[in-house]
Amino acid sequence: MIEETVRVLKSKIGEVDVAIILGSGLGKLAHQVEDPIRISYSEIPGFLRSTAPGHAGELVYGTINKKRVLLMNGRFHMYEGYAPKDVAYPVEVMKAIGVKKLMVTNAAGGIKLSFVPGQLVFIKDVINFSFRNPLIGPNDEKIGPRFPDMSQPLSNEWIEKANEALYKNMDQKLETGIYALMLGPSYETPAEIKMLRKLGADMVGMSTVPEIIKANHVGLEVIGISCVTNMAAGVLKQPLSEKEVLDVANSVSSNFISIVKIIIEKTC
Ligand code: HPA
Repeated sequence: MIEETVRVLKSKIGEVDVAIILGSGLGKLAHQVEDPIRISYSEIPGFLRSTAPGHAGELVYGTINKKRVLLMNGRFHMYEGYAPKDVAYPVEVMKAIGVKKLMVTNAAGGIKLSFVPGQLVFIKDVINFSFRNPLIGPNDEKIGPRFPDMSQPLSNEWIEKANEALYKNMDQKLETGIYALMLGPSYETPAEIKMLRKLGADMVGMSTVPEIIKANHVGLEVIGISCVTNMAAGVLKQPLSEKEVLDVANSVSSNFISIVKIIIEKTC
């Protein structure tokens, strides 16, 4: 299947400096792509349909600040009923078409009490609380090792370079935090959030970790940005809602876009 996916994509797009997976409500970056080529997931053999709200379901290829980008506008989640290996399949495809750098983004609940809704945070490490792994099953050594190293799942060097560029160009730096994956689709309970905080998590969400594991398997350099759209369950008295998540992600999209554009231009 992968040969067919790669053949179709290579017939439509050229070289890529950075691939970016866009999280819930963060799809507006796709409007920033110059000379865009849009490819609906339904045209790509092997790609699933993106059923989650706020996920468009298309690849967008073009340039941002003169760098060649491949945006995945809409990702797949395990809570949609998809197997972890299918959720991570696009990352295997990215590697096969020559991508070397991957930026993953998501909307997340804030566990760390000093975080505020709307804050953007670099993901420095992850906790896989889904206990599912996209690499389960036969391994193809040509793609990556059976037991991939995960001692630096996100690139510290890339985070440092990105923060230097943000400081120089926007007079700001992003904090870093640990992202915990929960399966969803129900949001967490207050007791689960207390547990995650005790275990060292700063953000919580329902995505991204399968793609990060696959990227480490195939040897892509990864950077990750969480948009803290809400304080996690139990931190505030109010209930959580998808509307709040999408509204906050939308409301910070111009800052998100500025930050991502600087990272693309200066570090990719
Ligand atoms: N929990 C899980 N996923 C999320 C949250 C949350 O609080 N906010 C945005 N995505």
